[in-house]
Amino acid sequence: MSRNRIEKSTALWKRRPIECFVASAVALSASLLSGCADKCLDNSAFYEQKVWTQVVSKNCLKCHAPEGVAANKNAKFIQLSQSFPGFLDINLGNISEVARIQFDGKSELLRKPLGEMDHGGGAVLTSDSEEYKLLEQMVDRVSDPVTCDADPSSVVPNLGVMDPVSTLRKASLQLGGRLPTPEEEAAVADGGEQALSAALDSLMTQDSFFTLLKEIYGEVLLTGRYNQYDGQALGLLNDTDYPNKNWWNPTAVPDNMLTADQRNNRKWAGYGVAAEPLELIAYVARNNKPFTEILTADYTVVNWQSAQTYGIDPKTVGLQSSAAYYDFRPAKVQITRSGAKVDLPHSGVITTPAWLNRWPTTTTNVNRARARMTYKFFLATDLLAVAERPIDPSSVTSTNPTRDDQYCTSCHKILDPVASTFVNRNEAALILPDMSEVSSAGSLNQLNQFEPIGTVSMNAHNSVTVRQTSVRQPYTWPGPPLAS
Ligand code: HEC
Ligand code: HEC
Repeated sequence: MSRNRIEKSTALWKRRPIECFVASAVALSASLLSGCADKCLDNSAFYEQKVWTQVVSKNCLKCHAPEGVAANKNAKFIQLSQSFPGFLDINLGNISEVARIQFDGKSELLRKPLGEMDHGGGAVLTSDSEEYKLLEQMVDRVSDPVTCDADPSSVVPNLGVMDPVSTLRKASLQLGGRLPTPEEEAAVADGGEQALSAALDSLMTQDSFFTLLKEIYGEVLLTGRYNQYDGQALGLLNDTDYPNKNWWNPTAVPDNMLTADQRNNRKWAGYGVAAEPLELIAYVARNNKPFTEILTADYTVVNWQSAQTYGIDPKTVGLQSSAAYYDFRPAKVQITRSGAKVDLPHSGVITTPAWLNRWPTTTTNVNRARARMTYKFFLATDLLAVAERPIDPSSVTSTNPTRDDQYCTSCHKILDPVASTFVNRNEAALILPDMSEVSSAGSLNQLNQFEPIGTVSMNAHNSVTVRQTSVRQPYTWPGPPLAS
């Protein structure tokens, strides 16, 4: 939709928006304040500034949100609250569709709110109200869209664009942690915007940039907590699946008898496991792979020490030096079952032991915390904010409320399918790669009664997979409510 906005703004014609005359007749000062008198609003600006703020959010949302009574009656008119990313665009798309549905030559959007056609919400508006007039204009605009010329005055007044050389200085400090060299500055002074773009590309290939990237993600994923003391992260791995995890101490000598070499290997093996999510992100960026691979990679990354922890010969993945601690290479980890190696399905960051332990589960949580964090970190959706309403505990009567009760399904029909996709990772991030073990693990998937859907789904190994397309376009989801 935002792309449409740009395309539309290049249109050559401009229609004087009638709503400005209406508004100015009612309240001159308000229209002056909003700059309405001479400002063209295209359909999406009109929806945002008029229809959403004055009509939908105040008069319709309480019933027409995905968890509202209208949605439960399968009404097509569904509007999302502002906690959904991209809600304005999704809402405009939906209201435009509903506006086109007519009965006796009049849009249903104009009949239902008057209480006509047996509206489930009764008469919500009167035909002479300001709100109703805005709805009428919205309906007109759907069949005859208003587009506007690009409006330079919409740029915030007094806000200038910095010249390329000053931009380079700021960007070098931010991305590179240093000032630009005189040569870099001279190149950008000569070459302008184009040279700036090249200089930025080059900044983003330097080590300092990948350090910054790891810092940024470290502050979000919080997996660095497993680096508090040497070898800490090795404790996240169980001995059954990773019999090699103490490779640096084959004779199991007590701590105080470890050689300096052994201590060093323990330290960097632990670092490799703790830093795995962040190093994977850095690897994807450094090798200029599609960034979605942080969630879709069917491999992980290891250093010389952590390779051996996972039972991989470092040489086979191109690692030669035991002292190149920060040299991480792609590798596929296998686990040991009944003495045999079996493939461990990978799905980028969210299947690393560090991430799974940092965002753990319990037998009652059933992977919901992991699902919540997957939405929060990677799908721009804060599930705790999608439904804001008081919950009256006595209203919950069903025996399986997260599946059946409207007070719970508003969130849980979004949350639980994704939680289900983590079904083969248990409390301690142990991997349960075949489903017989999943069912013997008791309640692990008992509560997750929804089919895995949409963005995150199971792969052939019944392991969590995030579909690449959906992660690239998080804003197209959740969209209209899911069928329950
Ligand atoms: C008190 C709850 C309530 C409020 C407030 C409410 N509605 Fe509804 N609306 C319903 C219910 C329930 C239905 C489904 C039954 C029906 O079709 O009438 C519905 C259906 C509709 C439909 C038909 C949608 C479809 O595809 O079936 C439209 C259009 C509609 N409402 C418009 C509005 C508008 C516009 C507003 C705000 C100005 C509004 N409603 C406010 C409860 C409400
Ligand atoms: C606003 C959204 C929302 C609503 C409404 C909601 N939940 Fe949840 N629920 C969540 C989220 C998100 C989690 C996962 C939280 C976490 O562990 O990080 C969760 C977790 C749970 C858990 C697991 C708790 C645990 O860790 O052991 C249960 C059980 C649960 N919800 C039941 C319900 C029931 C029953 C209702 C209806 C009365 C309900 N929820 C309504 C969002 C919601």
